[in-house]
Amino acid sequence: MPDPSPSRTNVLLIGGGGREHALALRLAQSPNLGELWTSHPSNPGLAAIAKPVDVPVDARELYRLEQFCQKRSIGLVVIGPEDPLAEGFADRLASPTTLVFGPTAAGARLESDKAWCKQLLRAASIPTADARAFSDFDAACQHLESRASDDEDVAIAVERFATLRDAALRRKLIDAMVRVGKARLASQPIAASDITLLKNSAHFKDLFRDQAPDAAAIAAHCVPLAQAYARVRPDLPVIKASGLAKGKGVVVPDTLEQAVLALERMLVKREFGPAGAKVLIEERLEGPEVSVLAITDGSTLLMLPPCQDHKRLGDNDTGPNTGGMGAFCPSPRVDDDLLQRVERDILIPTLDALRRDDIDYRGVLYAGIMLTPGGPKVLEFNARFGDPETQPLMARLDADLLDILLHAARGTLDHAHARWDPRPACTIVLASQGYPEKPRTGRVITGLDEAAAIQNATIHHAGTRREGNDILTAGGRVLGVTALGDTLADARHTAYRAADLINFEGKLMRRDIALHTPTPPRRTRQPTP
Ligand code: AMP
Ligand code: GLY
Repeated sequence: MPDPSPSRTNVLLIGGGGREHALALRLAQSPNLGELWTSHPSNPGLAAIAKPVDVPVDARELYRLEQFCQKRSIGLVVIGPEDPLAEGFADRLASPTTLVFGPTAAGARLESDKAWCKQLLRAASIPTADARAFSDFDAACQHLESRASDDEDVAIAVERFATLRDAALRRKLIDAMVRVGKARLASQPIAASDITLLKNSAHFKDLFRDQAPDAAAIAAHCVPLAQAYARVRPDLPVIKASGLAKGKGVVVPDTLEQAVLALERMLVKREFGPAGAKVLIEERLEGPEVSVLAITDGSTLLMLPPCQDHKRLGDNDTGPNTGGMGAFCPSPRVDDDLLQRVERDILIPTLDALRRDDIDYRGVLYAGIMLTPGGPKVLEFNARFGDPETQPLMARLDADLLDILLHAARGTLDHAHARWDPRPACTIVLASQGYPEKPRTGRVITGLDEAAAIQNATIHHAGTRREGNDILTAGGRVLGVTALGDTLADARHTAYRAADLINFEGKLMRRDIALHTPTPPRRTRQPTP
């Protein structure tokens, strides 16, 4: 590690995943780096190149980290993950002698408050999926059902209870009908309390005016609605927790039943805590997804080459959403014209809108974009580098990362220079059995040295820890294996060759990262600042 000297910058890097390991490896190459400090020395990759911070890294004790920055003459703090950004680490750690790369809590709301972000996008006419925000479960369900009322049975139910002012009672009746219909379809016992509720409702009294309905008649009447709730519909809106939910707060439901369940988990059961106290019900968009990231100092944008992430756990985009199971860069789906369009129509207006709100945003603007037939539209904003997108990006960066981040933090990004290795890069994520719900940890990892010996491959530690001479799994996403290649196919081949050498019990790895990509358009050139 180089000695600290006045002309060199001491850096504190906050965060302990694969993204931070990739950033640290690049920072460590800067001739102007003094000391590199890590908030997460338990990550063996970080521990190998950075010194451990010796005070708590905790939002409730930020004064300790402030004191640390003064004592260790930290010139730049780089904040990787979203939580410390949302908790205001940047607000507190910035001082006349310490610059911070990463937005203030106000800027990080782009990611930590999706409802606020949606309003900002809408006010600035930035193309994005339509959405409405709800804090009340019954009102949210009512909106959802009215959106699905092209289904005849749902329409009848919606209309049937439309006159009910009491939204909670309305919900209770619909839920009871769905439960009774489902039980009848499955020939299971029907709850007497549901039958009583329905029998005594104004609607059922009206319906069976002439005779007192028995349980069988009520159950038969409930079947079509239950079927409608179970019907697979590709057009249902997406349900999103407004706050930070560790990548689990988005549900793309197949059925109305799943959609109502997602609303219940967020708004009633509060499974995501305060993050789910507000939800967005958002128009479902179709198309390929790309990640467009830019570094900014609040006025200048440095566009990074476009990436693609693979969010689902399983091959062919099956299984639950994850933080990302692999990524590659550049994305052949985004040529220069499209990248410029995203910059012009999405990123610049977003920065302008932030400035109008007096937010001086310094860090990464990450737009998750869907390429719809109507043009690129924003799915989400992140206020940080992507994980795993940062791994292929850093593999391709052919410039001094420290210099770029310092310029962004200082407000002089127009003086920064970025060059990119023309070779594509591909990252394969190795995850633990049980990820993303309940990853198993503590398994011994073998083959790391053999994999690292493969030319053009780099191993990034994410959820690992050292115990004696062993490296063990210690999280959901365990490692990222990144490779450069002359073509994307070469890069993925090398990455898989290295990834196949690494083993641990229960290793999960997608086999189709960067596989089904279109051939690059002819006029593609790399973005340059
Ligand atoms: P997010 O965390 O917002 O990126 O959402 C996770 C994933 O859910 C995205 O990568 C998309 O695949 C999917 N998704 C989110 N919003 C929408 C939408 N409006 N339409 C379709 N799919 C979506
Ligand atoms: N890879 C997606 C993210 O960083 O949010």
